[in-house]
Amino acid sequence: MRKWWFGGWMLLLGACGQSADVGPTHPGEQIYLNTCFSCHAAGVAGAPRVGDAQDWGARLQKGRDVLLRHTIDGVPPGMPAKGLCRDCSEVELGQAVDYMLEKSLPALEE
Ligand code: HEC
Repeated sequence: MRKWWFGGWMLLLGACGQSADVGPTHPGEQIYLNTCFSCHAAGVAGAPRVGDAQDWGARLQKGRDVLLRHTIDGVPPGMPAKGLCRDCSEVELGQAVDYMLEKSLPALEE
């Protein structure tokens, strides 16, 4: 009985975590793949393309805070508020931004 209760609690805790994934996956990856990917992979409507170091580098000059604010509020007309992930928290959106930045900016060194 006690054991069952403990197991259930652990499951709950796990579900509230950043991601149920174990291993080296980036916490923002799932959100990116679920929502941001549809525009940011190919650069739809002028979206900064993931992997494009110049585009992201220029945007990062504004500071990550500004990028996150624009993610939450959206950038009309192309970038929808919260990048269409209405259930995402600010922390999760920040992770998705970080994921895109990390995927894009190492290319600067190449
Ligand atoms: C419907 C297409 C679409 C989706 C979905 C989308 N974006 Fe965007 N995003 C855009 C476009 C277009 C721009 C360029 C806006 C501009 O600068 O005019 C943009 C710009 C941005 C920027 C740069 C803002 C700035 O200040 O320069 C960030 C950061 C960003 N998106 C994050 C995200 C994240 C995180 C997600 C997923 C949660 C997401 N986007 C989903 C279209 C999209």
